Amino acid sequence: MLQPDSEKRTVLNLGQKKTRGEKITAVTAYDFPTARVAADAGIDIILVGDSLGMVLQGHENTMKVTMDEMIYHTAMVTRAEPPALVVGDMPYGSFHVSIEKSVENACRFIKEGGAEAVKLEGGRKRFRTIEALLNAEIPVMGHLGLTPQSVHQLGGFKVQGKLREEACEIFADALELEKLGVFAIVLESIPLELAKKISERLSIPTIGIGAGPFCNGQVLVFPDLVGLTNLYLPKFIRKYADTHALWLKALGDYIRDVQNGTFPNDQESYHLLKDIDEFLQ
Ligand code: KIV
Repeated sequence: MLQPDSEKRTVLNLGQKKTRGEKITAVTAYDFPTARVAADAGIDIILVGDSLGMVLQGHENTMKVTMDEMIYHTAMVTRAEPPALVVGDMPYGSFHVSIEKSVENACRFIKEGGAEAVKLEGGRKRFRTIEALLNAEIPVMGHLGLTPQSVHQLGGFKVQGKLREEACEIFADALELEKLGVFAIVLESIPLELAKKISERLSIPTIGIGAGPFCNGQVLVFPDLVGLTNLYLPKFIRKYADTHALWLKALGDYIRDVQNGTFPNDQESYHLLKDIDEFLQ
C-alpha cells in the first residue's frame, strides 16, 4: 500500500479530493531538482508554467516562450518522476493558429515532455480547441480570469471580474469548461466572491492564484514561493522562504573564503601517495 504522499496523482483522484473536501496543492516547476523537492514535499500538481518566461528567462511577460522551450523544461520535470500530476502549459502561439496545430502541440507535451495533461488559457474563444484536445485523449486544465497571454489586450496584469459583465462571462465560461470535460480550472486574479461562487457551483476542482481562499486548491510560482528574487511581488503571493538572502549569504561566504585562501582546505583537496619531487623524477 502506497503512503498517501507518494500515491500517483491522476485527474481522477484529484477530482475525488474535491469531493472529500481536501485542498489540492499545486506549484510550478521548470527543472529536475525543483520537481524532486516538490515530490518529496507531497505536492499534488506540478505545473510547468510558461511563467518561466518571466521568472527564469527574465522577460517582462510570457509571450516569447516557445513550444521547444516548454518541452525542454517539461522533460526535465518528468525525469524526476514525481507522484504529482505534471501539467504542461501551452505557450502563446501554440494553440492560436489552428485546431490541428494545437492538437499537434499538445501531443508533443505528452509524447516528448512526458506530461500527463496540458493547461491552456482562455474561455469561450478556446472551447473548440479544448474539445479537440479532449477528443485526442489529452486531459485539459482550463485557466480563467487574468490570463497573462492576453496581457496586451487586457492592458496589463490586472484583476479580472470586478465588473458585472466580466464576472458573468468568467462564471459562464467556467460552467461551459466543466461541461466540455476539463478536469480542473485555474482561476487567476479574480475577486474571492466570484471564485467562491464558481468553486461551489462546479464539481471539478478550482485552483486559485490571487483568487482567495475558497478555491479547491492553490497554485504558486515556485521562485516566488521560496523568495528566489527580491523583485516586486503582487500581494497574493506569500513568500515562504527568503532564498535570495540565503544564496546571497552563501555566495558572500564563498567569495570571502576564496579571497582569504581558506577555501579549499586540506580535506577538500586530493593528495599524492608519494612526495611530489620523488614522484616527478
Ligand atoms: O504559467 C504559470 O505559472 C501559470 C500559473 C500562474 C497558474 O499559469
